[in-house]
Amino acid sequence: MNVGIIGSGGREHAICSKIKESARISKIYCIPGNAGTSKIASNVEIKIEDFKSIKNFCLENKIELLIVGPEQPLVNGIVDYFIDTKIKVFGPNKIASQLEGSKIFTKKICSKYKIPTSNFKIFENINDTKVFLSSAKFPLVIKSDGLAAGKGVYICKDIKEGITAANEIFGGKFGIAENLLVEDFLEGEEMSYFVICDGENYQFIGTAQDHKRVGEGDKGKNTGGMGCYSPSRLFNQELADKINSEIINPALNAIKDLGTTYRGFLYVGLMIKDNNPYLVEFNVRMGDPECQTILPLLENDLIEIFVNCCLGKLKNKIRLNDKKSICIVLCSKGYPDEYKKNIPILGLNNISLKQNEYIFHAGTKLEDNNILASGGRVLNFVSISENFKNSREDIIKLINKLNWKNGFFRKDIGYKIIDV
Ligand code: GLY
Repeated sequence: MNVGIIGSGGREHAICSKIKESARISKIYCIPGNAGTSKIASNVEIKIEDFKSIKNFCLENKIELLIVGPEQPLVNGIVDYFIDTKIKVFGPNKIASQLEGSKIFTKKICSKYKIPTSNFKIFENINDTKVFLSSAKFPLVIKSDGLAAGKGVYICKDIKEGITAANEIFGGKFGIAENLLVEDFLEGEEMSYFVICDGENYQFIGTAQDHKRVGEGDKGKNTGGMGCYSPSRLFNQELADKINSEIINPALNAIKDLGTTYRGFLYVGLMIKDNNPYLVEFNVRMGDPECQTILPLLENDLIEIFVNCCLGKLKNKIRLNDKKSICIVLCSKGYPDEYKKNIPILGLNNISLKQNEYIFHAGTKLEDNNILASGGRVLNFVSISENFKNSREDIIKLINKLNWKNGFFRKDIGYKIIDV
């Protein structure tokens, strides 16, 4: 089978590596891919928003399955765009993708279906927001409604920060804003919980804990993710049962009540307090770097899972081995602010990996056979072993071996479970 993957990050390289193991694969195309995917697949220079060219390419190259990595094409309706073809597109359709595309859409579902989440209010203009903030109790969370590439969420400790956030959102920092969301601040510890859905049924496909802040001890600016570990230390069956019954089942029913179904990965971003789950956000894709951390634990043929999901027949029991997985992200110095681009990463090809070790490319590109850093998050180092401490030590040794002078990374990923 010829397969296409849309995206260019570490998540897509991890998916590409995993499906490459399947006996059913003939050829993989990555649209557009990165330097890592170019070694195991063919990269195709088409912009991910150019649905027409993607469709033509898939038809010309007899692609039978198209896997969509990032949220933007899903929210823009790529699944619906392929409806007149026989190509199976893995991911939710445009209506279902609103679970990530509009935070207000999701909050309204939470109210209607009694999904536990923080209390919220929606505002349509800056004046009403300011009036509310002037007598509100802080901290509060202020969010732009639509996609904002991981930004657009402000944790405000006082009215000054609240007004800055509201001004920035209504000022168009994240695109034209017709409204914004003000939420109570949730106490607790975060956990990312993943399921894969076939339109009717779903199966659990792992948990992880992400470290989003740039600095050790979870300090400093927010990033796309500096690393994570899987499984989350918070996971237990009682909690999983609550997540399924109180959050996932009602949300999937809500999508059904809209006259459609949910098919694809569902990433449930949670705050856990006293072993109770509260929904922070849904994402309609795998997490990044959670995906890179979880897929090495997966024992199934991932292609079979994707195909069965697209056919509405997800019968395979998903099996994750019980090893401990850690991913550390090697970033360009300066990230998440300004950083230099097109810096060569020398010596990467000389690093030999053991069976339990992986390097997934994120922000890299190949130019004249040289691997260059093209993004802020550059490489994802993953190790799985019997315990988290060994996995982390293993990765740090690998990163030190590479010794990339333009890079930095957090050495404390998983500290809440390792350094206790
Ligand atoms: N790890 C956070 C995200 O994928 O959105």
